[in-house]
Amino acid sequence: MKAQFWTAFFLVALSWTDSAPAQAPSDRAAPRMKAIVYHAFGSPDVLRLEEIEKPVPDDDQVLVKVRAASVNPYDWHMMRGEPCLMRMETGLFHPKDPRLGTDFSGTVEAVGRNVTQFQPGDEVFGGRNGAFAEFVCVRADRNVVLKPTNMSFEQAASVPIAAITALQVLRDKAGIQPGQKVLINGASGGVGTFAVQIAKSFGAEVTGVCSTRNVEMVRSLGADRVIDYTKEDFTKSARDFDVILDCVANHSLLACRRVLKPQGKYIMIGGPAGRWIRPMDTAIAAMVVSRFVTQDMGMFMSGLNKEDLTVLHDLMQSGKLTPVIDRQYKLSEVPEAIRYLEAGHARGKLVITVGPDDAVAPLSANSQSFLERSGPLLAVIAFFAIAIGLPIVASLALHRRAQRREPGQRPFRWGYYFSVQCFVAGICLGLVLESGVATVIVCGILYGMLAWCFARRQHWAWIALTILSFNPIAWIINFFYLRKRWAETYGVR
Ligand SMILES: NC(=O)c1ccc[n+]([C@@H]2O[C@H](COP(=O)([O-])OP(=O)(O)OC[C@H]3O[C@@H](n4cnc5c(N)ncnc54)[C@H](OP(=O)(O)O)[C@@H]3O)[C@@H](O)[C@H]2O)c1
Repeated sequence: MKAQFWTAFFLVALSWTDSAPAQAPSDRAAPRMKAIVYHAFGSPDVLRLEEIEKPVPDDDQVLVKVRAASVNPYDWHMMRGEPCLMRMETGLFHPKDPRLGTDFSGTVEAVGRNVTQFQPGDEVFGGRNGAFAEFVCVRADRNVVLKPTNMSFEQAASVPIAAITALQVLRDKAGIQPGQKVLINGASGGVGTFAVQIAKSFGAEVTGVCSTRNVEMVRSLGADRVIDYTKEDFTKSARDFDVILDCVANHSLLACRRVLKPQGKYIMIGGPAGRWIRPMDTAIAAMVVSRFVTQDMGMFMSGLNKEDLTVLHDLMQSGKLTPVIDRQYKLSEVPEAIRYLEAGHARGKLVITVGPDDAVAPLSANSQSFLERSGPLLAVIAFFAIAIGLPIVASLALHRRAQRREPGQRPFRWGYYFSVQCFVAGICLGLVLESGVATVIVCGILYGMLAWCFARRQHWAWIALTILSFNPIAWIINFFYLRKRWAETYGVR
């Protein structure tokens, strides 16, 4: 089950980026364009407006002159490389692809030889990695469609990730039906503002949850009822929902379950972000809880595709979907936009307008400090020193001490090494769970006690610690090596 989940997670992470290789003409005099780039993971300060090579469309691509782009939480996850689990895909120490942004709208400037769906001058919108730039190349048969004629470039650019997520989660995961009661937690955000309108277009009875300043806005989008979370806790005051779409995940799963119908569905799409795995821990917890309750609980990951962009095009063209735009920024102001989004209280979408008046930062501004460049490498060295070096030194010291006290005793180096390593791993587990100092202390004490008993050659601690190491290599080594040791020492068979 876990394997399926992680496979799905990485496939979705992949699906957000058009896998077509970036065009990189080798000619030094190739045309250039302005783009937001980053060469290290970190805060919005790592972002630079630079001149990079202008992409050239291949036979199946269109070259789009970007008129507007929009910012999603996905962008700052990419920028920060967090949760760190993402880095298996995005680059371990620094970003594999220095370009940022996905949602765009613009005008087709050139088309590849095989492209028949578009021609120069067409107004389009879609998703492509590197959208915070003057131009993007995107495969004509992938994530790009014509812009609705009744929408501005800014409105169209605000749609792709957020609206597709709202559409797919409500239609495909929740399978909502007319008349069903749907609660949207985070109804005033990027996804939420689309979700309220899409749920209404499916004929659902919609309850939106947001703060006081957004109550009227959410109501104006069509919500039948709006709960102001500063005055009312929906897990206590509301009940009997068929679907809860949770964009915030700030209530416990059991509290959300209480207000669902017995066959209801709780679907989270995001939650409090952490450095290591959050909000994936909540997603895993939801999958586990779901096994023991009548309700369906879990996380949903969306993916861009042409068919759903077309559905959104039609919804906008028919007036059933109108983006809510909070603020507009220039290309050079992407760092400010991301900073504002990260604060978690955007009202609808943030749009980047791409125009000629953006100054390019001098290239020297991109020089990184030694610490910025070497930070990830130092972190890996520190990790190996603590996880491997420290247990080796400690186990040798413990072994010598034991030999001094009881000279005839059989060597127990691996046992000491494993004890110390498990103690360190216990503390690391507490840190990775990102649930506060209390969790770190509990994990440290639990693993520390087991390690202590194991180092004193307690049989039960050996079994417990081996299982709790979650390490198949340790399972195998301990099974053969320590069983032999104990058999020799105590006659255990
Ligand atoms: N799974 C996927 O495929 C997928 C796709 C897109 C996005 N996401 C995730 O979904 C989440 C939402 O995305 P988004 O684009 O909508 O983000 P967003 O635009 O940043 O949403 C912010 C909204 O959350 C609301 N909010 C903050 N605290 C709240 C609380 N305690 N109760 C209720 N609402 C609260 C804010 O409303 P107030 O200002 O009124 O507080 C604000 O309008 C993010 O975690 C994102 O990473 C997942």
